[in-house]
Amino acid sequence: MVQFFLPPNSRIVKGKTFPAPAGATRVREFRIYRWDPEVGGNPRMDSYFLDLDKCGPMVLDALIKIKDEIDSTLTFRRSCREGVCGSCAMNIGGMNTLACTKPIEDFKGVIKIYPLPHRPVIKDLVPDLSTPIAQYNAIQPWLKTDTPAPPDRERLQSPAERAQLDGLWECILCFCCQTSCPSFWWNGERGYYGPAVLLQAYRWIRDSRDEATGDRLDFLEDERRLYSCHTIMNCTAACPKGLNPGRAIAEIKKLLVTR
Ligand code: SF4
Ligand code: SF4
Ligand code: FES
Repeated sequence: MVQFFLPPNSRIVKGKTFPAPAGATRVREFRIYRWDPEVGGNPRMDSYFLDLDKCGPMVLDALIKIKDEIDSTLTFRRSCREGVCGSCAMNIGGMNTLACTKPIEDFKGVIKIYPLPHRPVIKDLVPDLSTPIAQYNAIQPWLKTDTPAPPDRERLQSPAERAQLDGLWECILCFCCQTSCPSFWWNGERGYYGPAVLLQAYRWIRDSRDEATGDRLDFLEDERRLYSCHTIMNCTAACPKGLNPGRAIAEIKKLLVTR
């Protein structure tokens, strides 16, 4: 029988504990993945006990409180705090989501927080997203045209043409879907573009002003880039913006069959 073992230095060990302040009334434990490349060694889970009566309502509020008041070494990405920049994506309570729009009250008991899964870790909750970012660049996510633009006005769309982009333009490239896709876990480094990048590719295919649809489809018609999607639909379940990357991928496949 085949047996698999994790390398010893990848096993997560118990870390430090930061107890609740004296007099805390509504205490909740946040158990957070920690790893610092400058220190090395095994990753650990540190426990921080916060008084929820002294903390904002979202998981990101708790992380900011920890960093500001308890442990300034905790590292994570965030920017907008409004669910529009995509930086604070992480795995919270077993699901990939945005820390800034996820209420603490959605969880019972200990809240466990890890970086987005199956990516190399840069530090603590910061994953290395260079592979999907490079794939995103490769789909050329900008309007491509041969026809010169009219000098005195924009390239126009009808309301119906503009509506074709609904469910696509809202993507904030948080990569919650990408890093919840089992096929991307195994095939991402081997060339599978994954749900976020393919949804973005479809956004430009659907744009009535774009004149490179044929080239875009040619580029995607590839065993690895597109067809490593096996319609498992973890991506759609993970999207914190309620989008459906699984459907976008299916639509690209349909266009390739029917063109
Ligand atoms: S449908 Fe499944 S295999 Fe395809 S991108 Fe989504 S999670 Fe990945
Ligand atoms: S489709 Fe959703 S989960 Fe995927 S990158 Fe876009 S916003 Fe994030
Ligand atoms: S901080 Fe921008 S999406 Fe959360």
